[in-house]
Amino acid sequence: MLGFVYLLILLSVFNFRDADGAKVLGIFPVPGRSHYLSGSTLMKILAEKGHDVTIVSPFSEKTPPKNYHEVLLSGLAEDFKKKAPNMFDVNLNPFVGPVVFGFILRSMVESVFNHTAFKKLMESEQKFDVVIIEEFDLPAMKYVAQRFKAPLIMYNALDANEWVNQYQGNPDSPAYLPSTFLPYPSHMTFFQRLFNSLLYVHNYLVRNLLTLPLQNRLLHQFYPDAPHLNEFVYNTSIVLLNADPSVHEPMPKVPSLINVGGFHIKKPKPLPKDLQDVLDNAKNGVVYFSLGSNLQSTMMPLDKREILLKTFASLKETVIWKFEDEELPGKPDNVIIRKWLPQNDILAHKNVKLFITHGGIFSTMEAVYHGVPIMALPVMAEQELNSKRAEMNGYAKFIPFRKITEDKFVSYLNELLRNPKYKENAKKRSQIMTDKPTTPADSVNFWVEYVVRHKGAPHLRVAALELAWYQYLLIDVILFISVLLVVVIYAVKYSFNLIFKRKTSEKVKIN
Ligand SMILES: *[C@@H]1O[C@H](CO)[C@@H](O)[C@H](O)[C@H]1NC(C)=O
Ligand SMILES: *[C@@H]1O[C@H](CO)[C@@H](O)[C@H](O)[C@H]1NC(C)=O
Repeated sequence: MLGFVYLLILLSVFNFRDADGAKVLGIFPVPGRSHYLSGSTLMKILAEKGHDVTIVSPFSEKTPPKNYHEVLLSGLAEDFKKKAPNMFDVNLNPFVGPVVFGFILRSMVESVFNHTAFKKLMESEQKFDVVIIEEFDLPAMKYVAQRFKAPLIMYNALDANEWVNQYQGNPDSPAYLPSTFLPYPSHMTFFQRLFNSLLYVHNYLVRNLLTLPLQNRLLHQFYPDAPHLNEFVYNTSIVLLNADPSVHEPMPKVPSLINVGGFHIKKPKPLPKDLQDVLDNAKNGVVYFSLGSNLQSTMMPLDKREILLKTFASLKETVIWKFEDEELPGKPDNVIIRKWLPQNDILAHKNVKLFITHGGIFSTMEAVYHGVPIMALPVMAEQELNSKRAEMNGYAKFIPFRKITEDKFVSYLNELLRNPKYKENAKKRSQIMTDKPTTPADSVNFWVEYVVRHKGAPHLRVAALELAWYQYLLIDVILFISVLLVVVIYAVKYSFNLIFKRKTSEKVKIN
């Protein structure tokens, strides 16, 4: 009996080995560095596990690791940088934003489809076992999986949101799930719920009446034989979400949605000697300040920079600031600037007392992982929502960047540095983040292999994806019941009248 079980185990191990050394194609077309960093980290995890990965993106590595091939979309990042406005100055209305965005997304897909390196890949005879694409509301990109006849995995740098929910049939009630671009808590007030619901409908219409048709036309311009977008955009096997209960609000998820938040966090490495000395010798502790890899501190408005400098000068802590220039005029003695800093390794140092950040999701997760409280200065996109959640969870304070005032900044910094409850809450969140059966990086690898082994994951698909919108919203059922009710009411009324009339006419006859 035992021998039989042993044989079974051996057989199943043998059976399940066919995902080894899979050929993985990763498409990370968004021309922002933080998107590339998370995408390349994801692909490197798979390369390290022995898979043969190819990554398509506007950025490249100085020294690509083993099993890691690049298709460089040269020029895209540079073009985008030229065209993009200074993010410190942008303040788009949440209703206008998605419409403008719809056109930006279209031109993003166009620049990829029209790129020589991409065309060459699409014409090549290469075979892939699975295609991974970064979700950024670029549905036409999903055609790559069709072209290579491979199962599709999407990767979303956010939690499940409007880009993901529609295509996976995930429940997404605006009653308690705020839009990614609104800094609302899950427990919304009536007016927040009203605004959130209106934006939800607005975004649904923009996505289905603008973004999808624009990209469908573009797809057929480049690939005339391609099927209509609607025939394959709902065919994603699984979505890897950069989400984790330590930083995101709980929400329902269909089985094809997989949390792998925190996969980018590595074990800390030793710091360069100069930084190690600074951190070791900071007897009053260290405040670490960085606005991430997309935003440049050098671009921030001067009045805000003055406020920051003045406030830092008043602190007894050492401030380490990621500042992308040689000189910072008026720099106080306790402030140290570097063009680039090993963020994860700095946050791991015991003398770091506070992280001043733009509230991007990767930075927020690193802070939580290392149990460091946050002062967030969100600038754009989902940063304000991340910051709001961090504040609700008791390990952060935030001020939207354009609303920074000296009074508020000084008082928040002092509160965060002097009140121990922020550190305690950060530690609690850290424990939540690290309490898992497997590391997020191992989860990434498991689920990619899972999709390769099963050649897709149709068994995880919910039937909602086969329903028309009016069936999903039960409008046909409600209409049917309404009509039935009306018919019954009229029938009752009619028969009542009939009986009543007969009775009165009988009475008349008697009289
Ligand atoms: C596509 O690229 C070619 C050069 O490779 C350029 O001449 C053309 O204008 C581009 N088309 C679009 C629509 O960007
Ligand atoms: C959907 O994906 C599965 C798994 O890759 C594939 O077998 C199937 O042909 C796809 N269907 C369509 C319509 O693209």
